[in-house]
Amino acid sequence: MIDTTGGSPTDLDRPTGDPDVIGVLREASPGETRVAATPATVRQLVALGYDIVVEAGAGARSGFDDASYVAAGAVIGDPLRAGVVLGVNAPTDEQLEGLRDGATLISILGPASNPDVVEALSRRPITALAMDAVPRISRAQSLDVLSSMANVAGYRAVVEAAHVFGRFFTGQVTAAGKMPPANVLVVGAGVAGLSAIGVAGSLGAVVKATDPRPEVADQVRSLGGEYLPVESADVEVSATGYAREMSDDYGSRAAALYAATVPGMDVVITTALIPGRSAPVLVTAEVVAAMRPGSVIVDMAAANGGNVEGTVPGAAIVTANGVTIIGYTDLAGRLPAQASQLYGTNVVNLMKLLTPEKDGRLVLDLEDAVQRAMTVVRHGEPTWPPPPVHVSAAPAEPPAADPAVAPPSSARRSTADRLGGTLALGFALLLLAALAPPTLLPHLTVFALAIVIGFYVIGHVHHALHTPLMSVTNAISGIIVVGALLNLANDEPAVIVLAAAATLLASINIFGGFAVTRRMLAMFSRS
Ligand code: NAI
Repeated sequence: MIDTTGGSPTDLDRPTGDPDVIGVLREASPGETRVAATPATVRQLVALGYDIVVEAGAGARSGFDDASYVAAGAVIGDPLRAGVVLGVNAPTDEQLEGLRDGATLISILGPASNPDVVEALSRRPITALAMDAVPRISRAQSLDVLSSMANVAGYRAVVEAAHVFGRFFTGQVTAAGKMPPANVLVVGAGVAGLSAIGVAGSLGAVVKATDPRPEVADQVRSLGGEYLPVESADVEVSATGYAREMSDDYGSRAAALYAATVPGMDVVITTALIPGRSAPVLVTAEVVAAMRPGSVIVDMAAANGGNVEGTVPGAAIVTANGVTIIGYTDLAGRLPAQASQLYGTNVVNLMKLLTPEKDGRLVLDLEDAVQRAMTVVRHGEPTWPPPPVHVSAAPAEPPAADPAVAPPSSARRSTADRLGGTLALGFALLLLAALAPPTLLPHLTVFALAIVIGFYVIGHVHHALHTPLMSVTNAISGIIVVGALLNLANDEPAVIVLAAAATLLASINIFGGFAVTRRMLAMFSRS
C-alpha cells in the first residue's frame, strides 16, 4: 500500500484529511482524439470524494467543452499540480517533468513493449499505473481498457471497410435486380474480432471467422458467424486469456485455409495478436494478389507489424490489383466520444478499487493482484514486470479416464446412492399401486411416466433455453390450477388438501415465472 503511514502520497501541501486532487490531461499527441475523463465520469470521481482539475480544452476533440466539465463539478486548471494525474497515452517528457513529487500517474503506458517508458518514469519519484496492464481475469474486466478499446475499434473497422467497399453489405432482391451479400472473413475472434463479427453480421454480410482457440467457436456462432477451424494436431487451448504462438504445423494449415478462403472474400478484417510479440503475418502478398479488385482488408494489428503483407501502419493503400489495405492504428479514436466514455469508465472503476473508503484518498494495495499487475513504478522504483497472474479462459479439461484406475469412492458412492434411490422410488410406487383403488391406477401410471419423461426432457434442456421452457411450464401450471380449483369443492378432506397444495405450488410457478421474465425484460429496456 502506498498509504502505509496514514498520509496520502498526494497530500504534499494539502492539510491532512483533505481529498486528493485528480488532474485530467489534454492529450499532447495531435492524432489523439480521446480524453481520460468525460463530464459523466468526472461526476463519478467527484462522488468518490475527489476534487477534479481538467486541463483547458482536454475534451474538445471528443466533443466535450470546458463548460460541461465545470457543470460536472470540475475546475479548469493545471492538471500537473494534482496528486493523481489521468491521461490516455504515456506522458511526454515535459508532462513527466511537470508532475509533482509523489504524484500517481494513470494512463496507457505500454510497459511490455516499451521498456524505455518504465525507465523514464522511474527517473521521477512518482507512482505509475498502466491501464493496459490489467490482467484478463473476470474481476478486472471493468478496468480493462484494451478490451473496451478493441470493442470500439472492431466496430469502427467494419465501418471503415464498408465505407471503402462501396457496395451493400446486405443482400437484396429488388425489382431492379438481385444483389448478393458481402462475404466477410474475420481473422482472430478476440474482443475486436467478435465486435467486428457482430457489426458485419448486423449489416447483413455473410461472416466467417477463424481463431486457433476452439473455445471461441460458440461465441462466433452466437453472433451469427460461421467458425472456420484450422484442423491441426496441436490446436491451441488458451490458459491465460491470450493466445500462444502457433506451431509450424498450425501455421502451414492456416496458410492453406487463407489461400483457399481469402480470394473469395469481399472484406477481410485481421485482429490476430500474441501479446508481447509482433503480430503474426497470416495473409501473404500472394493471397492479397488473388483477391478481387474492390475488396477491402482492415489490418487491425498494423501497429504491431500487421497480419497482412503490405500493410502500412496508419495509412490506407491500394494494391496493384485494386485491393485496399487499411492499416489505421487509431480506430478507437475515430469514435472519440464513446471511446473516451468507455476509457473514463474503466478509470472510474480503477479509482473505486483505489478508494476503498470513498473518501477521496487514493490507497494502493500491492497485495491485490490487479493493482500489482498495473503498477509499473512505485515511488520511483520500477516494479515491472509484475509476477504472473494465472487465469483460465477455458474450462479445464477433465483428466482422461484411466481404465486401470478405479473410480474414486465418492463416485462409486453417488452411483450406488442413485441406484438405491431409484429402487426405493419404484418400490414405493408399486406399493401405492397395490394399495390404491383401481380407479386411481391409471392416474398413478400417468404420474409415474410424467416424472420419468419430465426428468429426461427438462434435464437435457440447455440453460440458455430455460426461459422459453418456463413459459411452457407456466401453461402447464395454468392447467393444474384449473383442475385443482375444480377439486376444491370435493367432500374428501384429503382431496381438498391436495388441491389446495397443487393450486399453491402451480401459482408460485406462474407468478415466479412472470417475475423472472419481467426482470429479464427490464434488462433490455432503455431507462
Ligand atoms: P485479443 O487478444 O482479444 O484477440 C486476439 C485474437 O487473435 C485471439 O482470439 C487469438 O486467439 C487470435 N490469434 C492469435 N494468433 C492467431 C493466429 N495465428 N491466427 C488467427 N488468430 C490468432 O486482442 P484484441 O483486444 O481483440 O485486439 C486485436 C488486435 O486489434 C490487436 O492487434 C490490437 O493491438 C488491435 N487493436 C487495434 C486497434 C487499431 O486502432 N487498429 C485498436 C484496438 C486494438
